[in-house]
Amino acid sequence: NLLEQIHGLETIFAVNGDKLKAITNHFIGELDKGLSKKGGNIPMIPGWVMTYPTGKETGDYLAIDLGGTNLRVVAVKLGGNRDFDTTQSKYKLPDHIRTSSSEELWSFIADCLKTFVDEEFPNGVKGKLPLGFTFSYPCSQDKINEGYLQRWTKGFDIDGVEGKNVVPMLQEQLAKRQIPIEVVALINDTVGTLVASLYTDSETKMGCIFGTGVNGAYYDVVSGVEKLEGRLPSDITSDLPMAINCEYGSFDNEHMVLPRTKYDLLVDEQSPRPGQQSFEKMTSGYYLGELLRLVLLDLHSQGFIFQGQDLTKFQKPYVMDTAYPAKIEEDPFENLEDTYDLFKGLGVETTSPERKLIRRLAELIGIRASRLSVCGIAAVCKKRGYETGHIAADGSVYNRYPGFKERAAEGLRDIFDWESKPKPEDYPIHIVPAEDGSGAGAAIIAALTEKRLANGL
Ligand code: BG6
Ligand code: GLC
Repeated sequence: NLLEQIHGLETIFAVNGDKLKAITNHFIGELDKGLSKKGGNIPMIPGWVMTYPTGKETGDYLAIDLGGTNLRVVAVKLGGNRDFDTTQSKYKLPDHIRTSSSEELWSFIADCLKTFVDEEFPNGVKGKLPLGFTFSYPCSQDKINEGYLQRWTKGFDIDGVEGKNVVPMLQEQLAKRQIPIEVVALINDTVGTLVASLYTDSETKMGCIFGTGVNGAYYDVVSGVEKLEGRLPSDITSDLPMAINCEYGSFDNEHMVLPRTKYDLLVDEQSPRPGQQSFEKMTSGYYLGELLRLVLLDLHSQGFIFQGQDLTKFQKPYVMDTAYPAKIEEDPFENLEDTYDLFKGLGVETTSPERKLIRRLAELIGIRASRLSVCGIAAVCKKRGYETGHIAADGSVYNRYPGFKERAAEGLRDIFDWESKPKPEDYPIHIVPAEDGSGAGAAIIAALTEKRLANGL
């Protein structure tokens, strides 16, 4: 019966403290593998940011930030006193862009940049504006101003970009429009978040994104990155820091430890890149609504809910984005009227008990995502021996999914055995908000790069 079904679902979606610890321990080994010459599932990409920002960097920079849902164009003024000002325009990525052509993607970005530059610099520009480009997909780099896309993630599927350096593709579209901009640094959003937060807060240990995708960055030392041996210019010494974009959304692609349910297997099979981003597919915003939809369809097919209804509209993959479970979880009405409206919009009539069930399922999926997603943080902290510090976090799930922050803190508490500390504020490792920092991070990195070049390094 339905009650038994719910208990079953509660069991398969639960991840207790012991399991989180086991996942974290396995994670540490995988991070190490990623840094080794042989390599592993987690790319652990050196980001070629080899200094810490001091907070004293100054200057005016442009940055663009292509995240999972928006393109931001940002003018950044670095104040030099651990402060910066940003002026930004946000452009929602049109839905079709995800699966459009390379030409369309770069043209869209170049057009947005042109609009911004025309508005912000009405009297024209002297020389070329240095631009920091936050491109939030796994890119191999041998230097800071290039990025060879390893593979698309987060549902993007655009031909002709994988395996190529994305900087000249953008540069070409800029040239066509005679926009006087030079891309001086290409960075991941996690590295941008790390550096921007470190600029203002010296306790920062990691930059993390909990958004359409899930990922983290931290500083290692060059000598700790075995796979860099033989790839380094002679002026780079082994004691320098090196920002690492982990790309840990691909953790456990070998399916050794994550508690995958049949719904996770389905999400994977039906994605454009099966077998990839296993960790991300259980934790990130791109997939949470879809997971809920698949569970509900399963219960429907067994005759438990939405009986006798035509679910054509609801059967469309990804018709429920993560805003749905988020809104369902925060539905303030006793009778879940908001949830009623949401499902009505999807062509589904719901009864009150059905809505309570839906809410419980959203909770299970949301709790699991937040608890699992901190395993990446715990693994990096354990690996680096960080016992205290701030983890700068950004992304739509972190900022907008109800309860995420509390649940993530509880996950860390369970992994590190902080039960004796009554309040999350007392936890030695804190996740703190770094909203919209990664554009600023790109600008700071552009400034650090110019300083490095000026110093002949
Ligand atoms: C933004 C950052 O706030 O969050 C981006 O500026 C980042 O760099 C983004 O990619 C991630 O969130 P989402 O939800 O858009 O994937
Ligand atoms: C995906 C991308 C990664 C990015 C993350 C968060 O995991 O592969 O580069 O940092 O999403 O946006």
